[in-house]
Amino acid sequence: MAVIKLQDIARSYKVGQVQVMALKKIDLNIEKGEFVSIMGPSGSGKSTLLNVIGCLDRPTAGTYELSGKRVEKLRDGVLADIRNQFIGFVFQRFHLLPRLNALENVQLPLIYRGLVGKERRNRAKKALEMVGLSDRIHHTPSQLSGGQQQRVAIARAISMEPAVILADEPTGSLDSGSSKNIMGVFNQLNREYGITIIQVTHDEEMTAYGDRVIRILDGEIEKIDVVNAS
Ligand SMILES: Nc1ncnc2c1ncn2[C@@H]1O[C@H](COP(=O)(O)OP(=O)(O)OP(=O)(O)O)[C@@H](O)[C@H]1O
Ligand SMILES: [Mg+2]
Repeated sequence: MAVIKLQDIARSYKVGQVQVMALKKIDLNIEKGEFVSIMGPSGSGKSTLLNVIGCLDRPTAGTYELSGKRVEKLRDGVLADIRNQFIGFVFQRFHLLPRLNALENVQLPLIYRGLVGKERRNRAKKALEMVGLSDRIHHTPSQLSGGQQQRVAIARAISMEPAVILADEPTGSLDSGSSKNIMGVFNQLNREYGITIIQVTHDEEMTAYGDRVIRILDGEIEKIDVVNAS
């Protein structure tokens, strides 16, 4: 079953007199449990596509079905609820709060969801365990390596139990060893927990961990490659 169905999606921006077609004619289905990479030159529309998929942005044309529900015309508040229910975000810059330790950072979204006390703490601990950081839960971001900080950010995303994780250049600021480690974490979350993963990457090597590579050029899908299982 396709968890994400994009049909004839377009997203344009008007800046002054100039109309930018950031996305045009995007048809794309992503199956539940897939691990997909999006690649393409700078300015080709990768982040725009990820923002539409993540309900952070609405398309200007076309239809979008997320988990069987049409979402392209929903109001902001409703869209935010859907986003909280289905989507976890991971960014190039980890967006952790510097004064909070790993356990507290992971608990933040759970506070907004209204979880309290032990349940919230346990859920955060489990998420940190899933990314292999059980021994670093009291460390603040500055006491963690870049790769470890990104793993905290991933734990924060999965603590909400999302069906889909969207990652915009998650290894963009990491060295190659840490990058492989992060891909290993995604791979495990994908295989063991069936979380659908969609990542934007500039690094061809990082696509090896996924099932397909969506290649974007000038706002259109140029080509889709299936990754050979090794
Ligand atoms: N808020 C905005 N207002 C106007 N134009 C925008 C806006 N966001 C993106 N664009 C334009 O849309 C196009 C696609 O941008 P997008 O950020 O999706 O590219 P990208 O593929 O993610 O690039 P990069 O690899 O550099 O991150 C670009 O031409 C950009 O200038
Ligand atoms: Mg981008």
